[in-house]
Amino acid sequence: MSNFTDHIHELERRWAQALTAAKVDAVIIAAGTPRPYFLDDQSPPYRMNPHFAQWMDGAECPQSLLLVTASGRARLFFHQVEDYWHQPPVQPDLQGAIDIEVHRSEDSLMAAAIAAARRHNRVAFVGETETPADNLPFDDVNPALLLNAIHYGRARKTPYEVECMRLATTTAVRGHRAAAAAFEAGASEYDIHQAYLRESRQTDADLPYSNIVALNAHAGVLHYQHYDRESPARRSSFLIDAGARHKGYAADITRTYASDASSEFAHLIATLDAHQRALIDAICVGMSYVDLHEAAHRRIAEALAEHALVSCSPEAAFASHITDAFLPHGLGHLIGLQTHDVAGHMISAEGGVRLPPRRYPALRLTRAIEAGQVFTIEPGLYFVPMLLRELRKSSTSADVNWSRVDAFMDFGGIRIEDNVLVTEAGTENFTRDAFDAT
Ligand code: GLY
Ligand code: MN
Ligand code: MN
Repeated sequence: MSNFTDHIHELERRWAQALTAAKVDAVIIAAGTPRPYFLDDQSPPYRMNPHFAQWMDGAECPQSLLLVTASGRARLFFHQVEDYWHQPPVQPDLQGAIDIEVHRSEDSLMAAAIAAARRHNRVAFVGETETPADNLPFDDVNPALLLNAIHYGRARKTPYEVECMRLATTTAVRGHRAAAAAFEAGASEYDIHQAYLRESRQTDADLPYSNIVALNAHAGVLHYQHYDRESPARRSSFLIDAGARHKGYAADITRTYASDASSEFAHLIATLDAHQRALIDAICVGMSYVDLHEAAHRRIAEALAEHALVSCSPEAAFASHITDAFLPHGLGHLIGLQTHDVAGHMISAEGGVRLPPRRYPALRLTRAIEAGQVFTIEPGLYFVPMLLRELRKSSTSADVNWSRVDAFMDFGGIRIEDNVLVTEAGTENFTRDAFDAT
């Protein structure tokens, strides 16, 4: 039996369990539809409802519906319009794992799906809708009990999903290699971005998120969103956060480079790289991701002390929150069909939530670590003017070696980001494996 068929069986099992828990007998999951900009006839790139996409083996099926019941096979109501403005979607090959009915019009598709669903008692709808829930012919729309269970379960990837994520990583790493070479050759942010797209054979719309291609101080803007066409006269550093997708599953990878391999910034990158690897080595089932995040802060404190950016001890730099100014984001997040996958704060299938500690409001993942989860490990160490201004005014300012910090401002910062699968035995690092293989 193929991986994909097993994956579908696992989804059927999860949805049956969630439907039973939510006291619902059937659910119609909508793929969604491209929505134009305000007062416009153009739409942003289309993204399927991830609950629908999870069943589709990468096929794009705008406006299609999927009927899932607590017992029996899933049924796809596939919307295949006749159109000469756009290429109509191709009927997906779902390897016989899902029944498929083709419809040429939205009205007949919706009528058929509702008629099939109505053979069951309570019917829910999952998807985006502009119609108020009360006006829809369903007993429930996006019921929390159902979605909580499904969202919680999405953290645990099936073997099929794991393989998709390995392949997404391989594609992204090809792009990263080309981007690093373009940086070496003196290219601008724009040209590095183009080299990445070309080598990973992606368009901008294919990317899981907009590439971050940052030279010099731009590396200190966490989600830097521009691509300068000109190469700066002085080139200090290069941070690239760029991914790829395979059948909808994302890779999210960051690397940072120094233009001068013997510079102190290059040593700082090597220090952070060693800490990032050590954090991954520490991962084990049952550990809280919050503790791992806190361990990252302690390691940033060590790096600050080792490079004489602070004059106090690492313990003091951690305790006095100096590290918060240098690492203002979370250590990582769940990843899958979404770059920032759902349910990072969920601690139970019933909807229990663990919010991040007050000190770390940006932390996206607070769950206990379990086998089958895929998440990122992306510690950073940045020189962000806005945050350092605050630190300079604070009571701990005297513990910071400001002349050393000022010397790094033009480098922007460092982030090293890998995607890691948790296994019973430890971890599989998709990202390092892919870099090692190329
Ligand atoms: N690329 C966005 C992130 O690393 O979370
Ligand atoms: Mn990330
Ligand atoms: Mn990233």
